[in-house]
Amino acid sequence: MSHVDFDQLISLENTHAVKLEARETVFGRADVLPVWVADMDFAAPQAVTDALIKRARHPVYGYTMFPDSLYSAMGDWFRQRHQWSMQREWVLMAPGVVPSIHAACMACTNPGDEVIIQPPVYPPFFSSVQQTGRQVLENPLLAEKQEDGSLYYRMNLAHLEQCAARPQAKMLVLCSPHNPIGRVWSEAELTAVLDICRRYKLVLLSDEIHCDLVFSDSHRHRMLAALARPDDQLITAVAPSKTFNIPGLGLSALVIADSGLRQKMAKVLESFHMPQSNPFSVTGFEAAYCYGGPWLDQLMDYLQANRDFVVNQVAQRLPGLEVSAPEGTYLMWLDCRVLGLSDADLKHFFVQQAGVGMNQGVSFGASGSGFMRLNIGSPRATLEQVIERIQAALSARE
Ligand SMILES: Cc1ncc(COP(=O)(O)O)c(C=O)c1O
Repeated sequence: MSHVDFDQLISLENTHAVKLEARETVFGRADVLPVWVADMDFAAPQAVTDALIKRARHPVYGYTMFPDSLYSAMGDWFRQRHQWSMQREWVLMAPGVVPSIHAACMACTNPGDEVIIQPPVYPPFFSSVQQTGRQVLENPLLAEKQEDGSLYYRMNLAHLEQCAARPQAKMLVLCSPHNPIGRVWSEAELTAVLDICRRYKLVLLSDEIHCDLVFSDSHRHRMLAALARPDDQLITAVAPSKTFNIPGLGLSALVIADSGLRQKMAKVLESFHMPQSNPFSVTGFEAAYCYGGPWLDQLMDYLQANRDFVVNQVAQRLPGLEVSAPEGTYLMWLDCRVLGLSDADLKHFFVQQAGVGMNQGVSFGASGSGFMRLNIGSPRATLEQVIERIQAALSARE
C-alpha cells in the first residue's frame, strides 16, 4: 500500500463537522483549536472513499439490508486481528455503540436497578444509565502515581466485587480500551472482571469500540469475548467507526453468543426500528473491514509518534502539567491539577487564554476534576500549535 500522508491538513470547513461547528456552543468561542470530540482529522482509507463513491453513483438510496459479505468482512477482521471467532448468528447490527448501551440498559435491567461503571469514563456511560431510569453505581478507577509523576490507572477489583454483590446491581458497562485514560486492560484484569460478573450474575456490556487503536509498545488488546464462556451474559459492542475514522456513518455491531440475551437485545433494538440502516453506512462498514488494515497500520505508527511527541513536549515545555502515554486510543489525559483552578476556571484558562478546545475531565466523572482530555488524532502541526498556545498561556500566568 502506498504511503498515507497523515501530516496533510484537511479543512473540515463546510462539512458541518461537530468538532468545528459546535465550538461556539461548547466553548463560547468558534476559533479554539479543535482537539476535543473523539473523531480524527484524517481522511478515511482510500478504499472506503472509493466504495462510497461507487455506491453514490447508483442513484437509488433505498432501505438497505445487511449483506452476508458485511458479516464475513467483520468476522474475518476479528479472527485475523484479534484471534476471536464469532458466529454469524451472534451478531446484531445497531446504529451506534451509545444507542446500544441505552438498549442494553432497557433489555437487561429494570427501572431502579444499578448499573456499574468505572469513572473517569466516557460521559454517555452515565447518561445511558440515567436516561433509562436506572441508577449509576460507580467503581472509580484507582490512579497510581508513577516515578515520573504521571498516573497509571487500574480497576479496583475488590470494590467492583462489593458493587457486584449488591442485590440491585444488574449490569456492568466496561470500556475496553478505556476512554479517557487510555488503558488497554490486561488479560488478568479482564478475566477477573468476567469472573465477578459470572459469580454475581451481572450482564456485562463490553464497549470495545477502541479495540484496534492499541500501540505497539503496549501489551495486546484481548477481546473479552475471546476469554469468555458461551453462556456468559456478555454483550460485545464493536464498530469500525473509531478505527477507520468513519463515525459519522453511524453503524456498529453487537456480538452476543448467548441466545436468550441476544433475543432480549434484538427485541429492544427492533422496537426502535433500530436495525434499519442506510446504504452508505453498510458500504463504509464493509469496505473498512475488508481493505482498511494497511491504512490502520500506518495510522497507528503516526498516532504513536503523536503520543510520544505530546509526552515529550508536555515534560519539556508545560511545567507542572503531567500526562502519561496511553496504551491505546487517540486520547490523552492531561493532569492540570497543579494549576490549582476550579473546573470552570480550568476550562476558561484553556479556552480564553490558550485558545485550545479540549474536553473537560470532570465531564468524565468527579474523579476527572482538574484534568483535560486531548485528542491527538490530528496532524502533528496541529499538536505543535496546541503545545505552543498552552505554553504561551502558562507563561502569561507567571
Ligand atoms: C468508549 C466509547 N464508546 C462509544 C463511543 C461512540 O460510539 P457511537 O458513535 O457508535 O455511538 C465513543 C466515542 O467517543 C467512545 O469513546
